Amino acid sequence: MADGALAGKVAVVTGAGGGIGKAIATEFAGAGARVAVTELPEKLALAEEAATEIRLEAGAAGGDARPFPLDVRDLASIDALVEAVATEPSFGGRIDLLVNNAGINVRQAAFDVTEEAWDAVLATNLKGLFFVAQRVGRRMRDQTPAGGAIVNVSSIMGLAGYKDRAAYCASKAGVVNLSRVLAFEWAPFDIRVNALCPTFVLTPMTAPLLNDPVAGGDLLARTPLGRFAEPADVAQAALYLATAPMVTGHALAVDGGWLAV
Ligand SMILES: NC(=O)c1ccc[n+]([C@@H]2O[C@H](COP(=O)([O-])OP(=O)(O)OC[C@H]3O[C@@H](n4cnc5c(N)ncnc54)[C@H](O)[C@@H]3O)[C@@H](O)[C@H]2O)c1
Repeated sequence: MADGALAGKVAVVTGAGGGIGKAIATEFAGAGARVAVTELPEKLALAEEAATEIRLEAGAAGGDARPFPLDVRDLASIDALVEAVATEPSFGGRIDLLVNNAGINVRQAAFDVTEEAWDAVLATNLKGLFFVAQRVGRRMRDQTPAGGAIVNVSSIMGLAGYKDRAAYCASKAGVVNLSRVLAFEWAPFDIRVNALCPTFVLTPMTAPLLNDPVAGGDLLARTPLGRFAEPADVAQAALYLATAPMVTGHALAVDGGWLAV
């Protein structure tokens, strides 16, 4: 953690009730940010728990965390979130950072992909991500002084293909190129936009697959560093992208070398 690197900044992290999003929210608050921990309305209790935990840990660093409901598939929900964060009294009226982390995956062989699964994955991972960026980006453009940084969570699967993930890989590749477009268009407003591309990350949800001796063993054998990522590895890279003033339009792999071989 970089002490104070985000002092005075307001950050929105989507899908932050657990997993990678919670680790990023924790890292940002630990660096002094006031963080909007968003979660699906039906899972808001997770965001409340995460925010309470983060507040206790990050208070000494000047960080803060508050829970907010958000369904990225719903534009009205996105607009309500932006308004709620920008008017949260303890946040001070700005949004400086956005981490577009919410995402889903449905594993299906390409021959078996259903229209329902395709639409669900694209609606959250690409369309939802775009409209959160658009709505928060407008706020970053219109505030005084203008500016901000957006980190869009993609995956190594946005940069390379992998079996049984046609919709997921398509959505995550879309996130990488979309980030370049936004970086180009929004640079005049001092808004930086980057994509973050983690390898397999050990979370409670992925543990059954990754700890499986055959499936997990195969993935580990293909990873030069010989381990899966931890949520904290991804959070550290997100903090870098949030704070690196000359970095925009980049896709940063956090992959233990997966893409190098
Ligand atoms: N876990 C991995 O191995 C891995 C690897 C590379 C990239 N990623 C990406 O990292 C991000 C986080 O993944 P994770 O492993 O922590 O998964 P996760 O399921 O623990 O977290 C995803 C979060 O997004 C939320 N979410 C889902 N649909 C939403 C919606 N419509 N609106 C708002 N929130 C919604 C979920 O409730 C959940 O809290 C995702 O974008 C994922 O694709 C994960």
